Amino acid sequence: MLSRYLPSLRARRTVATAVVAACVCVGVGLLFLLFTGGRETDFAQAHVTDAWNRVVPLIRQGPLPPVLPKGEVEAIQVLDAHGRVVASTPELAGRPPIATFRADDRNVRATRMLCPPRGLEGCMAVTSYKVYQPQGVWLLYVATPQVPWYGAPADLLLVVGASLAVTTLMTVWSFRDLTKATAPVNAIRAELGEITLTALDRRVPVPADYQEIRLLAETVNDTLDRLESAYTRLRRFTADASHELRTPITAMRTHLEGALLHPKDTDWPEMTHAVLAGVDLLQVTAADLLTLTNLDARPLLRRDPTDLRRLVGAELSRRPCRHKIVEDLAENAHIECDRLRITRLLGNLLDNAERHATSRITVSVRVEGASVILEVADDGAGIPAEHRETVFDRFARLDAARNRDAGGTGLGLAIAREIAEAHGGALTVEDSEQGARFVLRLPARDALPSARTG
Ligand SMILES: Nc1ncnc2c1ncn2[C@@H]1O[C@H](COP(=O)(O)OP(=O)(O)O)[C@@H](O)[C@H]1O
Ligand SMILES: [Mg+2]
Repeated sequence: MLSRYLPSLRARRTVATAVVAACVCVGVGLLFLLFTGGRETDFAQAHVTDAWNRVVPLIRQGPLPPVLPKGEVEAIQVLDAHGRVVASTPELAGRPPIATFRADDRNVRATRMLCPPRGLEGCMAVTSYKVYQPQGVWLLYVATPQVPWYGAPADLLLVVGASLAVTTLMTVWSFRDLTKATAPVNAIRAELGEITLTALDRRVPVPADYQEIRLLAETVNDTLDRLESAYTRLRRFTADASHELRTPITAMRTHLEGALLHPKDTDWPEMTHAVLAGVDLLQVTAADLLTLTNLDARPLLRRDPTDLRRLVGAELSRRPCRHKIVEDLAENAHIECDRLRITRLLGNLLDNAERHATSRITVSVRVEGASVILEVADDGAGIPAEHRETVFDRFARLDAARNRDAGGTGLGLAIAREIAEAHGGALTVEDSEQGARFVLRLPARDALPSARTG
């Protein structure tokens, strides 16, 4: 798996922290060393000036002792107008001149780096001063050790040591912090890896700190909650569906076995009709199950501008009906809907009303604020208040209905509610003086954002 070879977040961040810390340390260290280097150079220059201040009065006023005190500089030498060494610091006693250069005519002072000056060791900055005497120009040479760009070696050691310490500390801190931060993520991953269909009740650990990871864990747990309840519903639905399909199959089998056992005593046309009724029920149930499965997948609905009054009117005039139908259809009931599906919803409500009404069915359409309302009411036995939600469950059939008509699939209202919700509406059973009153609320077309924008 490729993911195994990808660098971990912790490794990447730790390396990045180390690199950034090292760069910052090098930058700050360089600035510090340049500063100390400049300061040391200034000190060296001050020492040279100090030597000049001490020796020139001695040359001018005398007596000039042949051995001069060294002071802060490395070595001093004085040459007379003939170029002879007349005085020097102890280590140059009796030695020839350490240099031969002198400042040009426009200057009294010149400095050169000599590696090494004659009679001395190592690279040194040698400054040559002209001292004007009555006998001619004398030369004063002052040699100071070369100052490296970083100043003193101790400064360099300090900077390297501090940089290493800071970089190491930052890297260790980053590694530990990321180890702590990624531990909950690893725990969530491990727990998720173990959650299977047989252990859907397990949840990932929610860490106390790190808000983002806490939110992630809570979201994962919410998703698992929803998955678990969806899976439980699916299992119950599958079990109910198998049970519902088995009932007509068992009935058909009984009819067929009885007929085969007593072929002569069997009324074959009657037996065939009984079996056909079972096949019809199977067919309707299969079609309803398919419709529900399609609706469960939340398909993209066609949304045609529709006048609900006309749609309901057309459906009522198309259907044959045993009972008296009272229509109360208001104008301007405009919605956007998948007409086939809303017709299916209305058909399911009318089928039920037809089955349960005593003599009359009332169908009304009206506009209420931002909603368009469709009501289908009948004057039958009605639905007890405690069953007004359960009738929308899949395969829910109240006992009275089972006795009255075993032909229903128990899926009609479940399908109707799914269609309503897919349109952003709601389908409920509400109070009525007599019988059942189903109320469908759909968003009016004017209230939809698409209608307002264009
Ligand atoms: N108009 C109604 N009056 C009384 N009960 C109803 C009415 N409509 C539905 N019901 C109850 O709700 C149950 C579920 O309805 P439905 O989902 O359409 O299934 P089916 O019609 O196949 O029984 C019905 O079995 C019945 O008990
Ligand atoms: Mg029905």
